[in-house]
Amino acid sequence: MTSNSNSIKSVAIFGSNGSIGSAFIKHFLNQSSIKYIYSFSRAVNNFNHPKVHHYFLDISDEKSISDIADELPDDLNFDLILITSGFLHTEVISPEKSVRFISQQNLLDYFNINAIAPLLIAKYFSKFLPKNSPSIFAALSARVGSIGDNKLGGWYGYRASKAALNMFIKTLSIEFSLALKQSIVIGLHPGTVASNLSKPFLSNYKKNSVFSPEESVSYLVKVLNSITENDSGKIFAWNGSEIIA
Ligand SMILES: NC(=O)c1ccc[n+]([C@@H]2O[C@H](COP(=O)([O-])OP(=O)(O)OC[C@H]3O[C@@H](n4cnc5c(N)ncnc54)[C@H](OP(=O)(O)O)[C@@H]3O)[C@@H](O)[C@H]2O)c1
Repeated sequence: MTSNSNSIKSVAIFGSNGSIGSAFIKHFLNQSSIKYIYSFSRAVNNFNHPKVHHYFLDISDEKSISDIADELPDDLNFDLILITSGFLHTEVISPEKSVRFISQQNLLDYFNINAIAPLLIAKYFSKFLPKNSPSIFAALSARVGSIGDNKLGGWYGYRASKAALNMFIKTLSIEFSLALKQSIVIGLHPGTVASNLSKPFLSNYKKNSVFSPEESVSYLVKVLNSITENDSGKIFAWNGSEIIA
């Protein structure tokens, strides 16, 4: 397979109310080749469009994920499963500047949402990936999940949960290469993107180095359209460069 641009017709998006998730939905709604989009979120449906099928989902709960997968028609197919969920801070959790600030519960929350939930989605939704045609399973990771690239330290839970996600992606790619021979499993770093997630930290960045969600999605779509089976298991940045673990 050389290009996926014409092969993506059916999409499942998790975390669809997030800044990048909803920009992806807007993008796909402008593509006439897209037949349907299943969106999964804790929020209500923001897209009143016949192509969008929206489901409430709390990805922190395994039973919710398995119940929804059971509820969907067995003959449903997704060419692209895209996980755009993840968190860096909440009202009560801030990324740790020092080991003095780590907490067992906060670390569990980071791992649960950023690493374990995407793998659970793979567990319950891989049955919807086509066996005899190309498919992509992609999750938004982050450059800070790269161990080799860690020069600043801090953000223990977020960094480690994204590093764990990257390992899950690699391991899943090996399993899928046997059962789903035309599948590609990848992680994507969207760049620094203006969103709820990045808002408290954007003052550390030059204004012109921060993407809007729409800009980031336009780059990520190019990456999705250019990857091949040989790329399965890898993590790519918005500009198509590979991020080494
Ligand atoms: N923004 C950046 O600069 C940046 C940089 C590198 C990587 N990323 C990654 O890109 C992804 C999307 O980030 P974003 O910037 O679009 O952030 P965002 O606007 O905050 O969206 C993240 C979405 O994740 C879902 N989510 C978060 N916590 C959850 C929880 N406890 N349970 C269920 N769902 C939860 C939510 O989706 P629903 O509301 O739909 O449930 C939320 O809207 C994340 O994985 C992030 O780590 C972002």
